[in-house]
Amino acid sequence: MIDIHCHILPAIDDGSSSLEESLAMAEIAIADGISTIVATPHIKGEVHLPQFLLQQVEELNTVLKKRGYPLDILTGADVSAMLPPQEIARYTINGGKYFLLEFPHSHLPMNANQMVFEMLLAGLLPIITHPERNPTIIREPERLFSLVDAGCLVQVTAGSLTGNFGQDSKDCAAYLLKMGQVHFLASDAHSATHRRPVLSEGVEAATAIIGEQAAHKLVTLNPAAVLAGRSLDG
Ligand SMILES: [Fe+2]
Repeated sequence: MIDIHCHILPAIDDGSSSLEESLAMAEIAIADGISTIVATPHIKGEVHLPQFLLQQVEELNTVLKKRGYPLDILTGADVSAMLPPQEIARYTINGGKYFLLEFPHSHLPMNANQMVFEMLLAGLLPIITHPERNPTIIREPERLFSLVDAGCLVQVTAGSLTGNFGQDSKDCAAYLLKMGQVHFLASDAHSATHRRPVLSEGVEAATAIIGEQAAHKLVTLNPAAVLAGRSLDG
């Protein structure tokens, strides 16, 4: 499995607090059947330079290889929707066109469609993170459908499907899956104890809703296409 959203880089944001915790997260991911993780620290107003993130990823990979851990870390970021497209372009997944787009947690901006229009126009492909945890989308899922129609893709957090973020998010995640509006499941892990890098439980829950093949695609074929810079159907 491939996890495209994980705060595994040590001491860089509110994710892993240390190298020890990053290694513990790596062990949990490997035990869960994850072979590749995109490291996605929060990028908001005060940013880490892309070169610094690449260096952090390389350092973590070096430690993992030294220990013989079968896990690859790739570059990416959890990008605030408030960043302009030219800035976003520096924080794409694995240097391609796809990037994780994080809207404010409290609401979906009124001009969300205009924002993604400008990103798409710049040749970027937004993957909207955890819409099932956004109060506006929980109330009005059509707002998300319209963004998908415009060309956005959608990542649901695996833990939402198992109820880790409350009943409303669980119900919304299940509804979005049923409506065919979900393209990826990811862990959005922040630690080795609280929000952990585990996908299998979410895949199991998704299997009960959309079937095994479609559920597995969300953590295998679809993220593999993103890493390779291909379209999801290509
Ligand atoms: Fe995140």
